[in-house]
Amino acid sequence: MTPYCWFDYKTVIVSGASSGIGKGLVKKLISDHACTVIGIARNETKMKKLVAELGDKARFFSYALFDVSIKENWEAFEKELRQKHIQPDLLINNAGILPKFDKFINYSLDDVNRAMQINFYSCVYSMNALMPLLMESRSAGIVNIASSAALCSLAGTSIYSASKAALKSLTESIREECRGRCYVGLVCPGFTKTDIFSNQKKGKESDASEKALQMVSTSCDRMVTDIIHGIWRRRSNMVFGIDARLMDSTGKVFGVLVPWASSIVIRAAHLQMFSDVFDDEEGMSAVQMMDRLKERIPGRRRN
Ligand SMILES: NC(=O)c1ccc[n+]([C@@H]2O[C@H](COP(=O)([O-])OP(=O)(O)OC[C@H]3O[C@@H](n4cnc5c(N)ncnc54)[C@H](OP(=O)(O)O)[C@@H]3O)[C@@H](O)[C@H]2O)c1
Repeated sequence: MTPYCWFDYKTVIVSGASSGIGKGLVKKLISDHACTVIGIARNETKMKKLVAELGDKARFFSYALFDVSIKENWEAFEKELRQKHIQPDLLINNAGILPKFDKFINYSLDDVNRAMQINFYSCVYSMNALMPLLMESRSAGIVNIASSAALCSLAGTSIYSASKAALKSLTESIREECRGRCYVGLVCPGFTKTDIFSNQKKGKESDASEKALQMVSTSCDRMVTDIIHGIWRRRSNMVFGIDARLMDSTGKVFGVLVPWASSIVIRAAHLQMFSDVFDDEEGMSAVQMMDRLKERIPGRRRN
């Protein structure tokens, strides 16, 4: 065990527990802090794999399988906790998706709604349902996992950045409203090596630009360690990862120049992940852009 920490032996709810950062948080909370953890996600196969990996510590873990973007699911979950007399102390809203990097005009309204529902409204619903119960704990805490995209919005990340920026603003207001009664933390991770990039275009691993991206990306273990340490110290806004810290600090000094400069670097690096964002830009006239925007109006199907 590590030295005493305020959430040792507490009951923690972690959404998005079946993979990546969420899975890492579950393991560390149980192994290093003797927490009892309730994980939430949809994929039971992945959850069973986590249970197997936990070995004899699996008795400190249980899971609920539901879609976090549906309000009623959180309400039913809260009822179940009360019925079972489970008192949660800490809620970590971590579940999230990263839509494929693309221009805003190429996203359908369904894409926008999905990103907002999973990345933003899921946290609204979870906090709305669970805050009264959490407040019954003498060491209540809420941690929302946003992104460095909430600090600086790059070309190709419009709907992801918007969903995470909304979460950042919501969290910062709630923190003031709950000050003295509940710890409220916000985490803005930079690029972290997880499955969240599985739907993005990939270049060859040997490409210099892909290698550079890997170099600035943080390992999942490192990110999880930083997050746990930040929560331990009850930090308010946590920015983790070299890329995230760079975006945060340069953004504060140079403002809108940062997304502009980032576009120049990404375009010059020919990063495959962003190829749909920059490829046809030069050739597209304002009229063509307007035509594509009109195609996206409600009621029309995406090509
Ligand atoms: N990796 C990065 O570079 C990075 C950077 C900044 C911020 N973040 C944020 O960190 C958080 C974790 O990301 P990650 O990289 O660990 O991603 P990940 O490996 O893809 O894990 C995402 C988790 O969210 C769950 N999830 C997604 N949609 C869900 C839904 N509708 N209902 C219930 N669970 C859902 C997934 O579980 P199921 O599929 O089993 O449902 C999975 O457990 C996200 O909020 C992400 O935006 C990540």
